[in-house]
Amino acid sequence: MSDKKTYYITTPIYYPSDNLHIGHAYCTVAADAEARFRRLEGYDVMFLTGTDEHGQKIERKAIEAGKTPKQYVDDIVEGILELWKVLNISNDRFIRTTDDYHVKAVQKIFKELYDRGDIYKNEYEGWYCTPCESFWTEHQLVDGKCPDCGREVELTKEESYFFRLSKYQKRLEELYEKNPNFISPQSRLNEMLSNFIRPGLDDLCVSRTSFKWGIPVTFDDKHIVYVWVDALSNYITALGYGSDDDSLYRKYWPAQVHLVGKEIVRFHTIIWPAMLMALDLPVPEMVFGHGWLLLEGGKMSKSKGNVVDPLVLCERYGTDAIRYFLLREVPFGSDGVFSNEALINRINSDLANDLGNLVSRTLTMSEKYFNNEITASGVTDPLDDELKAVAAEAVSKYAGLMEQLLFSNAFSEVFRLVSRANKYIDETMPWKLAKDEASRGRLQQVLYNLCEALRIVAILCQPAMPDTSAKILSYLGVDEADCTWDTAANFGATKAFHTSKGEILFPRIDLEKELDALEKDKKKRAAEAEKAAKKAEKAAKKAHHGEEAPAEITIDDFAKLDLRVAEVTACEVVPNSDKLLKLTLRVGDETRTIASSIRPWYSPEELVGRHIIIVANLKPAVFRGVESHGMLLACDNTEDDCKLIFADDCTPGRKVR
Ligand code: ME8
Ligand code: MG
Repeated sequence: MSDKKTYYITTPIYYPSDNLHIGHAYCTVAADAEARFRRLEGYDVMFLTGTDEHGQKIERKAIEAGKTPKQYVDDIVEGILELWKVLNISNDRFIRTTDDYHVKAVQKIFKELYDRGDIYKNEYEGWYCTPCESFWTEHQLVDGKCPDCGREVELTKEESYFFRLSKYQKRLEELYEKNPNFISPQSRLNEMLSNFIRPGLDDLCVSRTSFKWGIPVTFDDKHIVYVWVDALSNYITALGYGSDDDSLYRKYWPAQVHLVGKEIVRFHTIIWPAMLMALDLPVPEMVFGHGWLLLEGGKMSKSKGNVVDPLVLCERYGTDAIRYFLLREVPFGSDGVFSNEALINRINSDLANDLGNLVSRTLTMSEKYFNNEITASGVTDPLDDELKAVAAEAVSKYAGLMEQLLFSNAFSEVFRLVSRANKYIDETMPWKLAKDEASRGRLQQVLYNLCEALRIVAILCQPAMPDTSAKILSYLGVDEADCTWDTAANFGATKAFHTSKGEILFPRIDLEKELDALEKDKKKRAAEAEKAAKKAEKAAKKAHHGEEAPAEITIDDFAKLDLRVAEVTACEVVPNSDKLLKLTLRVGDETRTIASSIRPWYSPEELVGRHIIIVANLKPAVFRGVESHGMLLACDNTEDDCKLIFADDCTPGRKVR
């Protein structure tokens, strides 16, 4: 094992409930840039991302799609992995909460908390927001709606397990006090204190019984583990905590930073550290709550139909341009508005103009004046010192800002150097120097300085634009492996450049034309999406019914059915049939017999006394010698399960409509 300092960084694990949009990519790109920066600085980095696959929201989505939850998430996770590949995300591990090792470790954690007395059983009554998977007390609701997303909440009442969150109030307050950066940026700390900590913490309901898609509590399998307890645990289970091999856990935990969106800061800064305290484990060093990427109309959401697809953007403008835009456009802690116009303007000004020009001017001159072979001549000028000073300042400021996750400011330093280098060309006027043989030494030094500046720019760009950085270094003819972090601060580290004119890095985009094209493309996609949604709906119906949904009927058609409540007064097996039961039914004053193929699922004893629903005006038929007058309503619950529709509260003989 190496003795390098470790650096453990995480993104949230994403819900695979829909395809991810540019807002999700935002956080992952930021984490990736930080991970790459720390690797560059020489850290042994562990960068984790993954998917949060349990919970009621996913279960419902799967049902709507006519799939099992696992089938449903498998399909979406595939798309997420593809997206991270396209975005050039360099995560070291990818965790899925449906992974077996995670499930087992969460079960251990839950049991451990129970054994330690920090989880206990009680009755829960409260409000639940399914899209956010969060519980709320009455007084936390805003106008009766979820305070986070503003959507409807549902009243739930059930027997549940509770985590003694209230017990950790004081220790949490001490944690924040002793580690002022634990909740970052500062504004998020204030939000947590005034909204949650000062009003006082309540114990937290940590199990559910009303649905099934979750990790079963081992010692009480009616219950599944609350999805946030399941999800938060990923940060340690991904490292093997609770498994036979926890060496990664011992190497990398505690994390240096969890990057999360601002709406989930409270889970990460209250529940998560309290869980860790209860387990006697160290807490992470920092939780950084970034802002949201908004669209002009507000937050991106599938239901609003205003999501921006990062795959489309990468295809049109290239991955590095999108990565750079996400990091540069909005200060990481604040909300920002995404627009195509801002994206195109940013690409044109910073990448095509400033960086692109510096690269192409330098390489063109190197070829033209020196046949691509550049070394220092030693013919210097005070202007050179200015350029070097700006480079040195850019490197040191950049490092400090990147260490604080202030990406936008960090890249503004890089582009200050780019601008300074462009200005250096204007000031030194190499084309003039080239006219005079006596200035050849000076011209050579100017180009050498430009190549060095460009080399440093390429190193600093690496966390945001890894491919572009590699291209620039290859055009300069320097080995990427030689461009270590300490060489960024060492102007003059490279002795010789063997340049080559590569392709244009970022072609200029015609704003008007491009906006038109995007609008057309959006309409085309919307039409395609609608078509696909219709197709999916049809497929889902088919999956539910095992066949195409029958044609529409009128209320008069329905009225032809005489549906009645019937009481089962006697029931027996039909001889020589392993499917049929013969039921004797009381329907008002009348007694009738029905034969039904439900023997695989019901025994005669359990039906006697129950009230069911029958089709009373079905033409009689004879089955195995039993004359049957009607049929029972039942549900093909799964392919090999059938459930009768019981109506025990209804009076035999009454009409069902
Ligand atoms: O919350 N701008 O998952 P999630 C910026 N599974 N960030 C955005 C965004 C936007 N428009 N939309 C979403 C969950 N995000 C849980 C996390 S962690 C143990 C469990 C961010 O898929 C959001 O802020 O709903 C959050 O940090 C992340 O995407 C995942 O959101
Ligand atoms: Mg969310």
